[in-house]
Amino acid sequence: MHANFARMNISRKQILLVEDNHFMRDTIARMLELEHFEVFIAENGLDGLEILKKVRPDLILSDINMPAMDGITFYKTMRAIPALAAIPFIFLTANDAPEAIQEGRELGVEDYLTKPVETKDLLAIINARLLRVADVQIAHIGQAYLDTVTILANSIEGRDPYTFGHVERVTKYARWMGEALNWSSKRMRGLEFGARLHDIGKIVVPDNVLKKAGPLSQSEWNLMQQHPTRGVKIIHEIKLLRETIPYILCHHEKWDGTGYPNRLKGEEIPLEGRLLAIVDVFDALTTARPYRAARKLEEVVHVLRKGAGTHFDPYLAGVFLEKILPRYMAEVENPPA
Ligand SMILES: [Fe+2]
Repeated sequence: MHANFARMNISRKQILLVEDNHFMRDTIARMLELEHFEVFIAENGLDGLEILKKVRPDLILSDINMPAMDGITFYKTMRAIPALAAIPFIFLTANDAPEAIQEGRELGVEDYLTKPVETKDLLAIINARLLRVADVQIAHIGQAYLDTVTILANSIEGRDPYTFGHVERVTKYARWMGEALNWSSKRMRGLEFGARLHDIGKIVVPDNVLKKAGPLSQSEWNLMQQHPTRGVKIIHEIKLLRETIPYILCHHEKWDGTGYPNRLKGEEIPLEGRLLAIVDVFDALTTARPYRAARKLEEVVHVLRKGAGTHFDPYLAGVFLEKILPRYMAEVENPPA
């Protein structure tokens, strides 16, 4: 055990141990060090706050009854400092301190260890807390990542004012499809990113083509048809976005083999591409474009029915008509606030 900050090893998890009883302190510190934690020692709450000025531990273990500053005051003071508020905190209590335990619970302390502490209990509770923190961090990273991708997708969409909101709506309908198909959370994650990024390749399509109100010339159309392959080129280096490739590459393939870019047919087209093809077309038809108004819903249903087995995977088209369309209609009648 040491309080030598210069020897800090960032690859080890750091624990701040606040305990006035030196025998208890040494015993617990040794248990932790044997498990390769780096331990910082404080004799009371005040001492603990001093250490927290220099070290940001992964977890704090603190006694309750201590001179100078008791554990409850230490906890309250620490939690009031935003940078320290999220550090997991575990109280060490003696069996004879029920009021202190009650007070701690009211303050939101979740975990207690009753002294004398057994190694296995100590490690179980510490590891559980550290794992929970890791889960939350991963969730935060995932959210930050999704936000970045959304900004990227919207920046492309922003070039084309007529398709404003297209990415968000397509993502929502795709999510509804994934839910209807009982997809796993891992697959749903790929769907969220894939639906958002499906048109990322349009970044290489010039404004005058992208924003053109009239029909495209052959050469413009050729350029437009490159967007799935160009999209894959953009993201294929990003390992975390590999799962978006089938959405980006295959959302313009058609069930009968007449789509682009690879003229894949039937189940040669990845399920992700077949799913996105339906929701992409559905959104294009149900929203206005510069050259036409939004289609009536009965016309849209007709296009989907007719396209089942030619443009669209007939099974997925059935799922869409049966489960997604009613959800869409309910939302149109009763839009979310
Ligand atoms: Fe597209």
